[in-house]
Amino acid sequence: MALHKDVEAVLNRQLVKEFDAEMVYLGMAIYFDKELYKGFAAWFRKQSSEERTHAMRLVDYILDRGGNPIIPAVAAPKIDYGSAVEAFNAALAHEQANTAGIYECLATAQKVNDPATVEMLQWFVKEQVEEEKWAEEYARMVEKIHNSIGGMYQFDHRVGKVARGE
Ligand code: FEO
Repeated sequence: MALHKDVEAVLNRQLVKEFDAEMVYLGMAIYFDKELYKGFAAWFRKQSSEERTHAMRLVDYILDRGGNPIIPAVAAPKIDYGSAVEAFNAALAHEQANTAGIYECLATAQKVNDPATVEMLQWFVKEQVEEEKWAEEYARMVEKIHNSIGGMYQFDHRVGKVARGE
């Protein structure tokens, strides 16, 4: 069954968010690299790659359903943040916005009775729980310890290990 135009439109809007997140996280990776927080840089580099895979999942799905994925021109990301706290809080806000976008996709697919899209989106619903979890935890942790340079470098080291799967 052809993809309903409302579903195609909302999935294309979500594509923009996912490609945008790829760039935003690349910008954060650059910021943290320049600040010598190599662990946080590795983490955001990894998140950036993951966001691209999220976007490509949507591209592939739209193609599978005979629709037209519209690849956005992505804005240049911010690479300067006032602090690590600001960057992590921005990441959290980004994930919350992404979750809202996925829920909007889901609501649209349910409204037009498109079970295939509802099923496809289940992966994203679960993924967003994980995404908000790390974003929330990391933002809260950095808020707690940002006045301790030792604590920050210790946390940076730990996050770097997680990013490298160690
Ligand atoms: Fe694709 Fe981090 O949400």
